Amino acid sequence: MKHNPRYLVLLLCIFALSTRAAVYAPTNEVSDTAATILTPKPLPKPRINSAGIFGVRPGTPFLFTVAATGERPMIFSARHLPAGLHLDAQSGRITGMLTTPGDYTVTLHAKNRQGSAKQRFNIVCGPKIGLTPAMGWNSWNCFAHAVSEDKVKAAADAMVASGLINHGWTYINIDDFWEVNRDSQDPTLQGPYRDTDGRILPNPRFLDMKGLADYVHGLGLKIGLYSSPGPWTCGGCVGSFDHEQLDAQQYADWGFDYLKYDWCSYMPSLEAERGISTNYMKLKTWGGSHTKDREQLMRPYQVMRSALDQQPRDIIYSLCQYGMGNVWEWGAEVGGNSWRTTGDIRDNWKSMSRIGFSQNGHEKYAGPGHFNDPDMLVVGQLGWGALRPTELTPNEQYTHISLWCLLTAPLLIGCDMTQLDDFTLGLLSNDEVLAVDQDPLAQQAARVSKDGDLEVWAKGMADGSHAVGLFNRGESPATVEAKFSDLGLKGKHRVRDLWRQKDIGKFRDSFSAVVPRHGVVLVRIW
Ligand code: GLA
Repeated sequence: MKHNPRYLVLLLCIFALSTRAAVYAPTNEVSDTAATILTPKPLPKPRINSAGIFGVRPGTPFLFTVAATGERPMIFSARHLPAGLHLDAQSGRITGMLTTPGDYTVTLHAKNRQGSAKQRFNIVCGPKIGLTPAMGWNSWNCFAHAVSEDKVKAAADAMVASGLINHGWTYINIDDFWEVNRDSQDPTLQGPYRDTDGRILPNPRFLDMKGLADYVHGLGLKIGLYSSPGPWTCGGCVGSFDHEQLDAQQYADWGFDYLKYDWCSYMPSLEAERGISTNYMKLKTWGGSHTKDREQLMRPYQVMRSALDQQPRDIIYSLCQYGMGNVWEWGAEVGGNSWRTTGDIRDNWKSMSRIGFSQNGHEKYAGPGHFNDPDMLVVGQLGWGALRPTELTPNEQYTHISLWCLLTAPLLIGCDMTQLDDFTLGLLSNDEVLAVDQDPLAQQAARVSKDGDLEVWAKGMADGSHAVGLFNRGESPATVEAKFSDLGLKGKHRVRDLWRQKDIGKFRDSFSAVVPRHGVVLVRIW
């Protein structure tokens, strides 16, 4: 058969047009000074943004708020919701209790004047909880020692008023300084450490812990707190040593859903005093690392996990010991839902980028219900007690959020929730970006290539696509290339810009983009 030359030329043209080889250079670029908001405003029609999977233990209270954007009023419903659970049509809250372990596949529906949306939702009733990383707020990076019940309530209110609850943000976590302090002269931090039965007492700033938990739950959110396996927390407040059982019980009685457990003053030598003396209360120094012995590092975390497991309540367990003894190798074994891999983050490029980009290699230890934690988010108004804006540039903030989502890290907002500006809100409300963090497969990204300051990080998603970050750690704009062969892909693929929520086109063999200084282009490749 003879080929018609005009037909061949036409075919070639179609081929050339359908496969982009050009370098992607987004038009609405972010600069070091212009805080360009990339996240499009949510549409008025419903969109369900909750993670597609949720773990719960049998016999524990169920609380899950279906996160959905779109015009209100919205009517929620669910198909195949197992017996024992109830979905409130107006609020989208699922409550109740499951008694029979198993996997339940539910379809969630949301409907308003503008249209409807549905999403598959797997409820996994068994021993594992926290199947996707926790998303919420923590008081430390903004308020530090100045946290109070009013500030926690205001943060919870703002989580709802800002609309962030509709993007899946859930936990309101009190860090250090809800307990009584050993050294402070501030009367609002003083008082008896425990009652006569040994039960922990909050400081006078937290008059009603149960009331506070009820208040937060009443908003459809969850609540967390903080302690140490040592006698004292890092801030010199009362810790849990030798009171783990009582403390776990108290947290559950109050209704807490999350515990951050911070090594601080713990030392293996304290174990000699367990149950026989209170000499440990005299310990004044910050313990730090006093051992390289893995058993000794694991022990205090096992003690508290077992106390938490005995409670009729699901409590997410967040290990904080700064990465000692390669905690990523055994954090899951001691029942940690996450474990801090480094020291504390600060809101500057050096700290954030060093922590974020040093996570390579840890990906093999993460999976559903157990995650590496590169520390809390440093965007918005922060200051550890003296509020001021983050010192990260706009591009650095896009890098921060993109990298943490690729790392499948817990996302804990560290800023004053009552002072969220539009740029920060945009950073925290991009559903396509957050979906990278909350993907049910819960795979953590690894670095797939590095060329000087230019790095490509990628993770596999449950639908078979890849989330890919093209990062430029250098001081001037550069073209970063993601080779498909590095992702295990061949041929031509559709590429979408996740921050801008726009399809870019189809690319063959590789995708390249111009990336600003300290910036990122985050894409998903199908
Ligand atoms: C340590 C932790 C921080 C914070 C403080 C509280 O430094 O790493 O995240 O919890 O203690 O004192």
